[in-house]
Amino acid sequence: MMITSMAQVTVDLGALRHNYRQLRARCAPGVKFLAVVKADAYGHGLVPVARTLAAAGVDYLGVASVEEGLALRAAGVGLPVLLLMGVLPQESEKAVGAELEVVLFRRDLAEALEAACRTQGKRARVHLKVDTGMGRLGLFPGEVLPFLAGLADCPHLEVVGLISHLAAADEEDKSYTRKQLEEFASLVAEVRRGGWAVPLSHLANSAALTEIPQTHFGLVRPGIMLYGSPAAPQRPAPVSLKPVMSFTSEVLQVKDLPPGASVSYGRTYLTREWTKLAVVPVGYCNGYSRLLSNRGAVLIKGRRAPIRGRVCMNLIMVDGTHIPGLEVGEAVTLLGEDQGSRITAEELAAWAQTISYEIYCALGAANPRRYTGE
Ligand SMILES: Cc1ncc(COP(=O)(O)O)c(C=O)c1O
Repeated sequence: MMITSMAQVTVDLGALRHNYRQLRARCAPGVKFLAVVKADAYGHGLVPVARTLAAAGVDYLGVASVEEGLALRAAGVGLPVLLLMGVLPQESEKAVGAELEVVLFRRDLAEALEAACRTQGKRARVHLKVDTGMGRLGLFPGEVLPFLAGLADCPHLEVVGLISHLAAADEEDKSYTRKQLEEFASLVAEVRRGGWAVPLSHLANSAALTEIPQTHFGLVRPGIMLYGSPAAPQRPAPVSLKPVMSFTSEVLQVKDLPPGASVSYGRTYLTREWTKLAVVPVGYCNGYSRLLSNRGAVLIKGRRAPIRGRVCMNLIMVDGTHIPGLEVGEAVTLLGEDQGSRITAEELAAWAQTISYEIYCALGAANPRRYTGE
């Protein structure tokens, strides 16, 4: 692989398309598919990911901020875009102007959106957020009907659906998820009896999409599995996924250290024997967590080389004693596949005491990205 920078993220758009098709195949015809591309598409790059998925057939995109919504519009993406975290009142004009759909959970936001709609002579599509047990954004179920009734003075707002988020869909024990599902389903029915059609009610993240079809309603809302990771690191996803992101570098220096030499800040690693140390120009400023100190490993020539000593801001040191012919300039794979060996985001996440989501966001945000499989 041609490396074009000291630390390089590569995004395989072919793998992204593959993952989308796997997930779409789990949904009944007629169920709409919202690809969660918030946080710069989990670090994979908002616009390239959105364009690829739009061409592949997704119906909707979900973003975290008005800026992300506007970036999609500026890139010519015409699909419906949902602002998953809602908007701030002062952002309403922009959201309405760009025809972004909005998750709604505050009366003052409804008023700000209504005012923006009046000014611009437009209507806005909103999705009412309900907290069925996530303990995060949203109205409590008992607040939904009164809130809807209060929207009578906001005739420019069209409530197209209810949205709720699952707290534990990735766990093997689905009892809490079933409770949330029951709560959500009965609320959707109650709201419909009250005269609101809410055709686009939605609940399903990746884990629920693949494991609990009853959560699909009118629209599914997966993120992580599009990017090739299971939702629960300890269990493989029930669909075949291809990793989308890889992260590579190259050996900057090779040196032989005698037994008893120390490596990196704080002298947390002492060599036990003559050691061939490879210095790699990646550090925590590249989103490669300092928690990987003395824990992580990289691939060189298809073999694992463990990290020795602390991860620095721009450098790590790895032990390549067992790698024949190790030389300066050799490709280093920190995430991804090399000659049949692989380091997964789940593995990196376990070493760094986090989840694959954070690994992708951190690496994607801090490094140049290139795209393959266009
Ligand atoms: C509101 C909302 N819906 C859907 C998702 C997608 O979840 P996942 O990436 O687990 O599929 C997220 C992700 O955090 C989210 O915040």
